[in-house]
Amino acid sequence: MLKISLYGSVLLNGKSGFSCCSGNGMSKQNKKADGMTAITAQPGIMDIELYQSGSGHIEGVDNVIKLSSNENPLGPSEAAIKAYQNAAFSLHRYPSSDQASLRGAIGEVYGLDPNRVICGAGSDEIIAFLCQAFAGPGDEVIHTEHGFAMYRISTLAAGATPVEVCENERVTDVDAILDACNAKTKLVFIANPNNPTGTMIGEADLARLADGMPKQAILVLDGAYAEYVEGYDGGAALVEQRENVFMTRTFSKLYGLGSLRVGWGYGPAALVDVLNRIRGPFNLSQSALDAAEAALRDIEYTNHCRRENEKWRAWLANGLSELGVPSDVSQANFVLARFANQEEAENCDAYLQTQGLVVRRVAGYKLPNALRITVGDESACRQVVHAVRNFKAGAA
Ligand SMILES: Cc1ncc(COP(=O)(O)O)c(C=O)c1O
Repeated sequence: MLKISLYGSVLLNGKSGFSCCSGNGMSKQNKKADGMTAITAQPGIMDIELYQSGSGHIEGVDNVIKLSSNENPLGPSEAAIKAYQNAAFSLHRYPSSDQASLRGAIGEVYGLDPNRVICGAGSDEIIAFLCQAFAGPGDEVIHTEHGFAMYRISTLAAGATPVEVCENERVTDVDAILDACNAKTKLVFIANPNNPTGTMIGEADLARLADGMPKQAILVLDGAYAEYVEGYDGGAALVEQRENVFMTRTFSKLYGLGSLRVGWGYGPAALVDVLNRIRGPFNLSQSALDAAEAALRDIEYTNHCRRENEKWRAWLANGLSELGVPSDVSQANFVLARFANQEEAENCDAYLQTQGLVVRRVAGYKLPNALRITVGDESACRQVVHAVRNFKAGAA
C-alpha cells in the first residue's frame, strides 16, 4: 500500500488559534492507492494537489482570448524575440552556468549587487529552492489565506507543514502572521501585490513583519507583480537592510516571457550561497537567459506595457463596477471581480466562454464568488465588459 503523508496543513487565523479559513488539504492518511507496492513517496508529497494552470482552450472555439494566466497581452519586447532567435545558432553549447550576464544586467537595471542574485526556471523554482533549503519535516511555512498555490506545494514537497493565515478582507494581515509565528516557523511567503487578490501592503507593514518574526525565519517577498507598481522596489531595500528578508521576481508577467521560464531571487549573501548549492548548474537555457536580458534592457517597452496595463486595468475595473461587479483596487495585471455568489460567478464564467473569453475561477483560492480576469489589450477589455453586460442583462 502506498504510504501517505503524515504531514497535513495547519490552519490558523493567527489571533484566536481557531481556523477562519475553511479547511483545505488536511492530511490524506486514509487515502487508498491502487496496487500494492513497497515504494513510498516522501512525507508531504501525497498531500499535494496538482497545480491548476489557467486554461487557454475552449472546446470548439477558435480565436480564444486567454485572460486566465496574467500574461502580458502585448507580448515580449522585439529585442527579446531577436535575442531568442539568435540563440538558435548556439544550440549545441551548454548555457552559462554562472548566469553572470543576466545577473549583471539585473544588478545594473535595478541597482542591486549581482553577486546576490540567483536565477531560476521561473520564480517557481526559486520558491522551491527556498523550501528545499530551509524547511523540512517538523518545520512550518506560513502563507496567507488567498496566497499563491506554489507556496503550499513547495512546502509539502520539502516535507514541511504549510500554515495558512487569514487575510483581512483579501489583504495580508501582518498581525495575524506574527501571531502564527513560532519556534518552528522557517519561512513566511507574502506576494506583494498578491495573486489572486491584486492587493498589497505598504513598506512600513513589511518592515514591521520582518522585525517581528522569530530569528530563525525568513520573510520571502514575492514580487511577481512588483514591476506593475510604479515606484515600488519589490522589497529590495528591505533585503539590503536585513538578514532575514529575501525577494523573488519574474520575467513571466510584465516582461512577457512566461513561456521561457525565467525568474530570479535577491537576498543576503549567506542565503544566496545556500540556494546556489542546490541550483542545477544549467537550470536556464541560453535562449531564455539572452531573451530575458534583452527584455530587461528594453526599458522604454517595459514602461509602455506598464502604462497600458494601468490604463486598461482602471477601465476594466470601472466598467465591471458599473455593472454591479466590484473589485478591490488592483496593483497588478488582473482584476478580481466579485459576484453576488458562487453560482453567479460560475454562470458568468460559462457565458464568457461562449463568447471566447477564458478567465480564471478562483474557488481553489477560497474565493468561490470571484473570477480573476487578466487585464488584456483594449479590445479584450472591451469584449469582457460587453459580455458581462449581456450576462447581467440575462443573456446566459
Ligand atoms: C504570486 C506569484 N508568484 C510566483 C509566480 C510564478 O511565476 P513564474 O514561475 O512564472 O516566475 C506567479 C505566477 O503566476 C505568481 O502569481
